[in-house]
Amino acid sequence: MIDSQTSLYCIFGNPVIHSKSPDIHNVCFRKYHINAVYLAFKIDSISQGVQAIKSLNIKGVSITIPFKESIIKHLDWIDPEADKIGAVNTIVKQNGKLNGFNTDYQAAVSPLKPFGIQGRKVCIIGAGGAAQAVAFGIHKNGGDITIINRNSVKGEKLALKYNGRFISLEEIKTIQHIQPDIIINTTSMGMAPDIEESPIPEHLLDAQMIVMDIVYNPLNTKLLQDAIKKGCTIIDGLSMFIHQGAAQFKLWTDISPDINLMRQTVLNGDD
Ligand code: ATR
Repeated sequence: MIDSQTSLYCIFGNPVIHSKSPDIHNVCFRKYHINAVYLAFKIDSISQGVQAIKSLNIKGVSITIPFKESIIKHLDWIDPEADKIGAVNTIVKQNGKLNGFNTDYQAAVSPLKPFGIQGRKVCIIGAGGAAQAVAFGIHKNGGDITIINRNSVKGEKLALKYNGRFISLEEIKTIQHIQPDIIINTTSMGMAPDIEESPIPEHLLDAQMIVMDIVYNPLNTKLLQDAIKKGCTIIDGLSMFIHQGAAQFKLWTDISPDINLMRQTVLNGDD
């Protein structure tokens, strides 16, 4: 029931119309009997959002594209890990102060942890905002990083930050020399409407690899279809989405939510 005591949580971004964050957070507020509601707000500038957080009784906020970097200067405190990554996707308001965190990196490594990351050769395709968080998480867990990117300046910079190698996307065939254990696509290649695109040719995949895609529209990307054909272990894009949301929920409520409930809610709808 929504009443005068109901707490407000939200997502700020542009666009947010296709966001599944309200679905996963609201279903968990209900499951754990928390009197709170989560809404999506499209904002034009981050200062608009910050003003809203401060003036309304908003307890927590998810920050998405394109505000993950511009929010930082408005925070009262930033988690040291988010600071290193250079991006914030979660705000917790406490005693009127805005505290910033990044749950994307935990989300990227959570589904990989059961397979082991320490000492594994991990190829990260892309060097944008998502790749920054993924690379931080892999490095923190002892993975051996190779960045593969179209733009070599960005790619080399990210590789250098985490003592990794760099390979240009054009030269992706040379990953054969590295024999990667894990491949993670952080680019938008394969996302609708370009569903026939894949960042890596099928013949470069082999059965002992773990192949992860952060694209979740569609869930069954060309990269993952190819990986299944080659017998690889796959991790789809919903994993990262769900895990980043679960970590946000934990920061806001101190409850570790039911991951399967979140996943089923996205897959089946909430009703
Ligand atoms: P995000 O914050 O979601 O990671 P981003 O910062 O725009 O978004 O980064 C997107 C990444 O996907 C970049 O590394 C980009 O490559 P460049 O650095 O060369 O621009 C990569 N990317 C996007 N579309 C691509 C395409 N069609 N081919 C190759 N790389 C692509």
